[in-house]
Amino acid sequence: MMTKINLGGDGVPRFSNRFVRSDAFEGLRIGEQLFAEFGTPRRRPTNPLELVRSLFELIFAAPTDNASVNTVRLADGTRLALTETRRGSFVINGADLSTERRFEWTGAATGQLNTAHPMRTPDGGFVNVGTDVGSALCSYHVYRTRPATPEVREIIASIPCARRAAPCWLHSFGLTATRAVVIEQPTPYDLPSMLGMAKAAYTCLQWRPGDGVRIHLVDLATGAVETRRVADPFFFFHIANTFDAEGGGVSVDLALYDDPSIVEALRLQRLSAPAGAAVEDLPCSRLTRLHIPADASAAITRTSLDDVRATGGFVDFPVTNPRVMADAAYKFVWAIAANRPTRLANKLIKIELRAEPPSSPSRATDGEGGRTGGAKTNCFAEPNCFPSEPVFVPRPGATSEDDGVLLCLLNDEVARTTSLVVLDAATMALQARLRLPRALPYGFHGDWEPEYMPE
Ligand SMILES: [Fe+2]
Repeated sequence: MMTKINLGGDGVPRFSNRFVRSDAFEGLRIGEQLFAEFGTPRRRPTNPLELVRSLFELIFAAPTDNASVNTVRLADGTRLALTETRRGSFVINGADLSTERRFEWTGAATGQLNTAHPMRTPDGGFVNVGTDVGSALCSYHVYRTRPATPEVREIIASIPCARRAAPCWLHSFGLTATRAVVIEQPTPYDLPSMLGMAKAAYTCLQWRPGDGVRIHLVDLATGAVETRRVADPFFFFHIANTFDAEGGGVSVDLALYDDPSIVEALRLQRLSAPAGAAVEDLPCSRLTRLHIPADASAAITRTSLDDVRATGGFVDFPVTNPRVMADAAYKFVWAIAANRPTRLANKLIKIELRAEPPSSPSRATDGEGGRTGGAKTNCFAEPNCFPSEPVFVPRPGATSEDDGVLLCLLNDEVARTTSLVVLDAATMALQARLRLPRALPYGFHGDWEPEYMPE
């Protein structure tokens, strides 16, 4: 479902929302689940022929096109709705949110899957990572698209998967000014569970902590790949920022979990427990800096950048001012966090990063050679309310990094309403609230289109 809130023009806000007309949606309209979805397999095959057909469809013919994860705007103004399959990209009419057509990718073959988090390059193109799942020699393909030809994929580098017959799930990746950073967490897809034949440890994913995490540094100019391994496994969805660090290394700031239990924690059956019901608390996550030194023999370090007293030990959807992407000197991250106990993030926070570690090592220390960073935090929370991903919008003419507003959809589970809240990004104070005419389901990602900004 796409939702649009227009705050521009005549000063009268306008709201619209509409489902993306994917094959998956059209099937559900007539009561049929046509595809295996992430965490929701089709019904179990009842005979060998049906099993073979399901397997072929899943891998080769028709993975889901349910474009429900993210939306991006291309250089020519085209708005795309995306999911993690090649088929799941649709051109959306920005005026009325109607689905104009399926976006047809051309150029190099980059596999059946791609992340729904393509990273914008300074020239208006994108870099993304595809996954080839159809052969016994599966690979990840880092590719770019040019602003004038956004549908044409050009491969920068191809990386063999750690387990050649079982690629791992990639939800996002990092991009610096010179490198793509592909983090291969030990979460291979589990084919039997996707076919409805078995139950994987985490929805459709296995968890192989003994594999550790492989970090692939891809030189955007030459395509050269350097791979490092981190023995301590971790799981993540989202990266706040990635940058070329002093001394030739790379740093990645991300919301890091010990394992994928968050995937099970976000199952609908668990989230839809009545308000006030006893709930299993959210798993823990920390805003963490991975530093990959230029010296390949040196250890990769993990530094916690947040304060668990402020975050409740939960951080995700970390975002920055878009103007400081890939900038090593950036200072602020905004994210969702938790007032525990809770089954879903119920707080928005601003984290001010400190360049130096605190003098007192009073907080948890993470990982190999890890040390603990520090943070000053402001927050915003309202009773019974769950925020979606925050979106930072710089103030026109802003000179400081946190000068702007934070936009966020807030679901009130008791009042059963959804509001757009506008926070002062510097103080996290509420500036405005727009109650939407209907409640929305809890969603994933958002985007700001500065159609009316005077810059
Ligand atoms: Fe995401």
